[in-house]
Amino acid sequence: MKFPERVFSGMQPTGSLHLGNYLGAMVQWIEMQKTHECIYCVVDLHAITVWQDPAELSDAIRRVTAAYIAAGLDPKRSILFNQSQVSAHAELAWIFNCVARLGWLNRMTQFKEKAGKDRENASVGLYAYPNLMAADILAYRGTHVPVGEDQKQHLELARDIAQKFNNDFRKEIVAAGHDDGIFFPQPEPIIEGPAARIMSLRDGTRKMSKSDPSDLSRINLSDDADAIAKKVQKAKTDPEPLPSEEAGLEPRPEADNLVGIYAALAGNTKAQVLCEYGGQQFSTFKKALAELAVTRLAPIGAEIDRLMADPATIDAILADGSARARAIAEPVMREVKEIVGFIHS
Ligand code: TYM
Repeated sequence: MKFPERVFSGMQPTGSLHLGNYLGAMVQWIEMQKTHECIYCVVDLHAITVWQDPAELSDAIRRVTAAYIAAGLDPKRSILFNQSQVSAHAELAWIFNCVARLGWLNRMTQFKEKAGKDRENASVGLYAYPNLMAADILAYRGTHVPVGEDQKQHLELARDIAQKFNNDFRKEIVAAGHDDGIFFPQPEPIIEGPAARIMSLRDGTRKMSKSDPSDLSRINLSDDADAIAKKVQKAKTDPEPLPSEEAGLEPRPEADNLVGIYAALAGNTKAQVLCEYGGQQFSTFKKALAELAVTRLAPIGAEIDRLMADPATIDAILADGSARARAIAEPVMREVKEIVGFIHS
């Protein structure tokens, strides 16, 4: 079956969003809403796989929603909502818990990283997290998923789950009127551009992340102009001038990262950036990068603050998005229940 193209993606409301989230995913989201039906979720069910203070969680959900809008997502054109308001996510995740195999989840590197040495003490939700992610996408029969590179393995799992569901229930799927026996599409990861993996500003071998204890390691979308400029100035570099060819970035993770950030912010390739700055010292390049970053990001931070002053409007946007999301997911869930053999009214 040819599925209509539908984009789904999401971000966790934990901590504040950063440059990696913005360049790795959101810039693609904004582009794709021009051409596709898009559903963008604030994944609060995912957030609680590690402890979240309830008083802070509601605020974080609103803040991520505000960041979506401030960055350029249009809540009229795209569906913006928070995951827990649409029960299909949790329902389908349970069914997928029974489709996915332990062996598949045991291979997930993100669980190993997040659980660390204290694996026995990790929540069951953290372990089953990729099944919920598959449910997020497939509850809408999503076909395209713009994400950063760190989500690649989770998306491969989502594809495996879709395939196994289609195989396990092939007879019932055909009986339900899908002649080709295919109920779920194989969602395609969209991992693109020079910013699919933005690294820490303090260590070019580690991913930029919300959980890094050093605030200097990341540029937050909520940072003001001074903070952005200071973090760029303090970013770790090496003593050599920038190379003129991309191959010269290969053994230089910090240089590679900063050139990638510049390229993504300017909408260029790394090669184009090196054409302009090859042979120059970091002092010159960082100045240009700080200026570009402030121009692109500071207005987003200011807009987030403005939107956060009116939580009722944000809640209304989430309520509207949730209703529209439910209208798509509920008929899918009805069919899933029928296919699995549940009785429902
Ligand atoms: P999360 O909240 O960790 O990150 C949100 C998005 O930002 C991307 N990203 C990065 N990209 C480049 N460089 C970085 N340093 C960087 N850090 C984060 C992530 O790849 C992601 O695209 N499990 C997901 C959320 C999720 C989801 C989904 C995504 C839940 N259900 C369904 C797609 C489809 C997560 O924790 O992303």
